[in-house]
Amino acid sequence: MTEAAVVRNKKKLEGKVVIITGGASGIGEATARLFAHHSPRMIVIADVQDQKGQDVAISIGPHICSYVHCDVTDELQVKSMVDWTVKNYGGLDVMFSNAGIINPNQTILELDLSAFDRLMGINARGMATCVKHAGKAMVDGGVKGSIVCMGSLAGSIGSQRSLDYCMSKHAVLGLMRSASVQLGKYGIRVNCVSPSGLATPLTCTNYGTDTEGVEKMFSSFSSLKGGVVLKVNHVADAVLFLASDDSAFVTGHNLAVDGGFRPSC
Ligand SMILES: NC(=O)c1ccc[n+]([C@@H]2O[C@H](COP(=O)([O-])OP(=O)(O)OC[C@H]3O[C@@H](n4cnc5c(N)ncnc54)[C@H](O)[C@@H]3O)[C@@H](O)[C@H]2O)c1
Repeated sequence: MTEAAVVRNKKKLEGKVVIITGGASGIGEATARLFAHHSPRMIVIADVQDQKGQDVAISIGPHICSYVHCDVTDELQVKSMVDWTVKNYGGLDVMFSNAGIINPNQTILELDLSAFDRLMGINARGMATCVKHAGKAMVDGGVKGSIVCMGSLAGSIGSQRSLDYCMSKHAVLGLMRSASVQLGKYGIRVNCVSPSGLATPLTCTNYGTDTEGVEKMFSSFSSLKGGVVLKVNHVADAVLFLASDDSAFVTGHNLAVDGGFRPSC
């Protein structure tokens, strides 16, 4: 590769203003760190873990990354966070709507409906709220932006123990598909990234194990063998593809990052 090509490869988000919800931890944090290498104007991390979010923003560099407290279940907070971003950095080009939680042991016969409501409020309603306000900011600003929603393999299959999580990720696919149809006329793209299981604070806590335990649990499900294990950087690479002009004619797409998940028979 020529030096010019390397430089071009490093500037996939040149001058762009990006919001990452749930950017204080796990996949969101890894994506913020990857995006920072691609010359964005600004990355705004929006999360409820204030100390972690501020630490991530400072370690990436205050000149290209800032932190804003935003609970995605509260529409006013989402609207304020998007408005603040547009006012301070001149627009919004990319929304990575990634914030999410999982409940342990939600089966249909023992379904805890309070926990169900809380999860849906974040994973489904909160996701729709973020897409709504990002879409409005892009339409108002005449920006042909990219919205990437965090899906999951659980959005395409049934689950033994995470019924509400599974429902919420099916909802994210419906949201992404409908929003891509409705925002297409403005040149705004909407896509999903759907990983299979990987080790992050979310899964380690939910399954009560460490990185190695989570990776072992999920590795048997993928077709891809030979020591390749799903890591946060693999997911971040897929988000970068959908966020950047590398995917300029891709919309309404669910990009699986699952090593060729195959249910055994
Ligand atoms: N880890 C996996 O195996 C896996 C697989 C597929 C999809 N996902 C999805 O990836 C996304 C990120 O998860 P992760 O694994 O990086 O977990 P994580 O717990 O490390 O990160 C999730 C982040 O979302 C934030 N968050 C939670 N509730 C919020 C709210 N109300 N408002 C704003 N921020 C909030 C958390 O504070 C946290 O920083 C989630 O949507 C999750 O469903 C994860």
